[in-house]
Amino acid sequence: MAYYMRNMRKEDVPQVNKIDREAFPTQWPPPDYRRELQNPLARLLVACEDNPEAAEPEMEIPREDISGLAPRIKRWWRQNRFFGKEPPQSSGHCIIGFASMWVMADEARITNIAVRQSYQRQGIGELLLISIIDLAIELKASIATLEVRVSNLLAQSLYHKYGFTQVGLRRNYYTDNREDALLMSTESITSAPFQAHFQQLKRDHAQKYGERIKSPTDSMSR
Ligand SMILES: CC(C)(COP(=O)(O)OP(=O)(O)OC[C@H]1O[C@@H](n2cnc3c(N)ncnc32)[C@H](O)[C@@H]1OP(=O)(O)O)[C@@H](O)C(=O)NCCC(=O)NCCS
Repeated sequence: MAYYMRNMRKEDVPQVNKIDREAFPTQWPPPDYRRELQNPLARLLVACEDNPEAAEPEMEIPREDISGLAPRIKRWWRQNRFFGKEPPQSSGHCIIGFASMWVMADEARITNIAVRQSYQRQGIGELLLISIIDLAIELKASIATLEVRVSNLLAQSLYHKYGFTQVGLRRNYYTDNREDALLMSTESITSAPFQAHFQQLKRDHAQKYGERIKSPTDSMSR
């Protein structure tokens, strides 16, 4: 399997929503990625599997309808969508993960990183984090910050690996179960020690997964 990173586009939103719901099923209200694409502070990246066979055109169902009519409409649409006509064109790529951040003054606030469950543990989360830090540097941010559930040890292990440390605790931060959030931050992402560590991690990642990673098709700054 080969994959690559690029900016999120509006046709990716249904697949991104699906990954978001799988990764954060209890988050309410759910993020509105279509609106985020219009937000000048936001940057959104996707990891795409470079295999058009894997692409699944999605019909977007409003989340609030999920419990009622929508599943029936979706089933009907799946059964009948190609009836008597050509299959619809999708973006031709399967989105396997995404990352988003807000860049405010010198701070890059990473708002989400998620990888489709069936693609986890293959270096994609790490590549998303590398790409978002690289983009933050390009956009002249000097630190990267994020919030993570205290129970999400797996994500914390990824962030620790990349030099994030706990700088605060937000009590009862998550509305679903009132779980606390760790506030994590890097040191200066342009400092020599951070860069030495970061560049080494990038080399290690490239050595481990490099042959699967293709160059992006478009620039990730805009
Ligand atoms: C967190 C997440 C993005 C990691 O993505 P991934 O593609 O599986 O991660 P990678 O394969 O790139 O692993 C990178 C690092 O993450 C950590 N990690 C990932 N999976 C792990 C696991 N099952 N156990 C322990 N550490 C793990 C490790 O530090 C790993 O580095 P290593 O390979 O040197 O051990 C993914 O698990 C996910 O989407 N989780 C649900 C959403 C979520 O919790 N996002 C974070 C919100 S703050």
